[in-house]
Amino acid sequence: MASDVNRTALITGASRGLGLALARELARRGWTLILDARGVDALEAARRELADPARVITIDGDVADPAHRLAVAQSVRLVGGLDAVINNASMLGPSPQPSLLDYPLDVLEQVYRVNVIAPLGMLQAVRNDLKPGATIINISSDAGVEPYPGWGGYGSSKAALEQLSAILAAENPSLHVYWVDPGDMRTQMHQEAFPGEDISDRPLPEESVPGLLALLEGTYPSGRYRARHIGEEAEKVKELRVALTVSDLDKAAAFYRDGLGLSTINEWELPEGRGLLLGAGRATLELLDQDMVAYVDQIEAGQRVSGPVRLVFEVADVAAAREALQQAGAAPLHEIVDTPWGDHNARVRSPEGMQITLFEAGAQEAERT
Ligand SMILES: NC(=O)c1ccc[n+]([C@@H]2O[C@H](COP(=O)([O-])OP(=O)(O)OC[C@H]3O[C@@H](n4cnc5c(N)ncnc54)[C@H](OP(=O)(O)O)[C@@H]3O)[C@@H](O)[C@H]2O)c1
Repeated sequence: MASDVNRTALITGASRGLGLALARELARRGWTLILDARGVDALEAARRELADPARVITIDGDVADPAHRLAVAQSVRLVGGLDAVINNASMLGPSPQPSLLDYPLDVLEQVYRVNVIAPLGMLQAVRNDLKPGATIINISSDAGVEPYPGWGGYGSSKAALEQLSAILAAENPSLHVYWVDPGDMRTQMHQEAFPGEDISDRPLPEESVPGLLALLEGTYPSGRYRARHIGEEAEKVKELRVALTVSDLDKAAAFYRDGLGLSTINEWELPEGRGLLLGAGRATLELLDQDMVAYVDQIEAGQRVSGPVRLVFEVADVAAAREALQQAGAAPLHEIVDTPWGDHNARVRSPEGMQITLFEAGAQEAERT
């Protein structure tokens, strides 16, 4: 078991459910913990359980209360700062949940205060005590991305939390910001969401903990993860990009972008050449003029090698993906390079001769400090 002595985490909503399950695992690994929840008795029971072997500070209060967040921040300062913040405390809202047109707006405001404003407020309160490269985990839900009827209040609050997390990640490349769907869990909140239903077939929250540990202990890029699929997702390709070499970029744009109605994600007009990246459903189509292809080829492969089509895969780990493709018969064309546009790229040739780029987006910026 890895020992994480000298690491400190703040977990909100840690008196039961997922928060307590994660606290148990971090305590076992020697983390110092700062925990909160509103109910004093359950929080005190958690403290007693965890305090041996870990150092545990509990502060009862409501995450939506700024005075409580200030009290948490004061404790954080006393323990010398945070390696991780897990914004886990959350509010379902009324149960059964009303449909949006019937949703009482004052209750919706409260749901947003707990699920959106409070996690950001907590981060603002402790921002000066986040250690370099600290990890932020905002616990979200599949309801934040799927439009389940009847989940409009809670679901839209989690959607807001997800976008807030994504922007935090973009604004703070030195932090590791994860927004995580823990999956269905057999907890009090889940029972409240399905009143009277037998939820004994749902996994215990302990089953979502290894994924959170992987994020806390690993170097995964900031982003959205599903706790029970983290290993798999990290190995998976994130995007397939088909890069076409075209002789007339404007004509090609008119054909693909306007003809198919594709959206523009990015465009480049550099002294070295021009390029256009188009959204194409779950993939993207990149159009590059001859000069731009020559420039990219030179950087990635050291020579002009691309034909009319090149496949580009965004991967979690360029070196590992390149190694795996080599094992499968690909020929490396160059050493892995840090590109002038901030990515980490490798170029290989498939056994049939296809040019393949593997890249890690913004890898230089996101490197753990
Ligand atoms: N369970 C699921 O199926 C499921 C699915 C997807 C996502 N999630 C998410 O997973 C996270 C954990 O949920 P859970 O199922 O473990 O819930 P849970 O068993 O109900 O536990 C929630 C914890 O948060 C505390 N809490 C609630 N409101 C709080 C507030 N305003 N201020 C401070 N603490 C508060 C609770 O203690 P007090 O009540 O004493 O404050 C408790 O310790 C949540 O973010 C939830 O949205 C759960």
